[in-house]
Amino acid sequence: MISKRPFAKWLGDTNEVTRIFLAAGEIPDMINLAGGLPEPSVWPADIIADMAYKAVLENTEEALAYSPIEGLPRLRDVIAERYNNNETKLTRDNVLVTTGGMQALDLLGKIMLDEGGLIAGQFPTYLGALDAWRPRKPSYRPMHLEGNKKFDAHAALEGAKFGYIVPNFSNPSGFLVPLETRKSFVDAAHATGTLLIEDDPYGTLYLDGPPLPRLLDLSAKRQIGPYDGPIVYLGTLSKMLVPGLRIGWVIGAPDVITALTLAKQGSDICTSGLCQKIAQEAFSQGLIEDILAPTLSIYKTRRDVLCDAMEANLSELFQWTKPQGGMFVWAQAIDPRIDTNLLLHTAMDCGVCVSPSSAFDPSGANKNSIRINFTLNEPDKLNVGIKRLATATRRLLAES
Ligand SMILES: Cc1ncc(COP(=O)(O)O)c(C=O)c1O
Repeated sequence: MISKRPFAKWLGDTNEVTRIFLAAGEIPDMINLAGGLPEPSVWPADIIADMAYKAVLENTEEALAYSPIEGLPRLRDVIAERYNNNETKLTRDNVLVTTGGMQALDLLGKIMLDEGGLIAGQFPTYLGALDAWRPRKPSYRPMHLEGNKKFDAHAALEGAKFGYIVPNFSNPSGFLVPLETRKSFVDAAHATGTLLIEDDPYGTLYLDGPPLPRLLDLSAKRQIGPYDGPIVYLGTLSKMLVPGLRIGWVIGAPDVITALTLAKQGSDICTSGLCQKIAQEAFSQGLIEDILAPTLSIYKTRRDVLCDAMEANLSELFQWTKPQGGMFVWAQAIDPRIDTNLLLHTAMDCGVCVSPSSAFDPSGANKNSIRINFTLNEPDKLNVGIKRLATATRRLLAES
């Protein structure tokens, strides 16, 4: 960062490529395959406007006053009810409303990490989580969950401050953590007592089959009564309804919720009451279920178009696994000469932007992969974007 001001030291550790690709959406004619943005045409704007109008006029105090730090009691109840089933027993004491899932990550860093604390993190890792925890200068024990080898979750979690995984269609890799690995994580979290964050923004975006069980549910099975186990589940409205309401939630043991509440007090006092009222109505009226089918139909078409375009244009340059849901395809360059930090610049010169893998690695060392988003752009743009990416990759190889 170029400035003479006495900013905190960690600011100097931020990743420049992240800034570049996040700004790409503003460049005219750029096909942005870099972001993780949902398709706006499915957003029920008129219904949300009506809910907002009613919330302000009919529930003025809840909507416009400060809320309790933990969130509006009725919304916490509605969230608890949504996740309650035969085995998982939640009360509002298990729920904290947050300002997006991002705030939950930030607060978890605040309550769990002293400088240098060890995080057992799924690799590659969501860059927002890296950003949230960077000021605490954590160290990472990487957890590579892909491949055929049985993963030793116990060894991974032992001694860490917490574990972090995105089991449903991970950001960035699109990887779906298999049931056996989920079970071994839950066993390991119970055996070691290490908190395990289950970050789940993409859990509603299964395109090919029924959802796998949540770690929260697998853990709750082991106990009677309100949840008191080691899984800290993070949910958000961002990918199941709209990101702009900035509504997220944490589900966890009551003492974790209390600690997070203390941290939230020093962060934003409370999440917008108006947005909480809209969220409460959206859950109660089934709005999320109403828009799910049209959303999934668009995403499935786009996922297939993107993967077909990749097959036709990129199969000699990259390898990837078609994701079963979520928003991303993770593609690994076949030629080791390809540095995807450099590819970002060449690709942008060719009019397409993708996210380079270094952004998802705390050391920035992983430079051989890219994350490609399939949810935001229409099929024509996906096709053109992939052709541009193929041109850029060949150009980069020719120059190397
Ligand atoms: C894995 C993961 N966690 C958390 C978030 C944060 O989402 P939000 O703050 O919009 O709820 C995202 C957003 O892309 C994500 O991909």
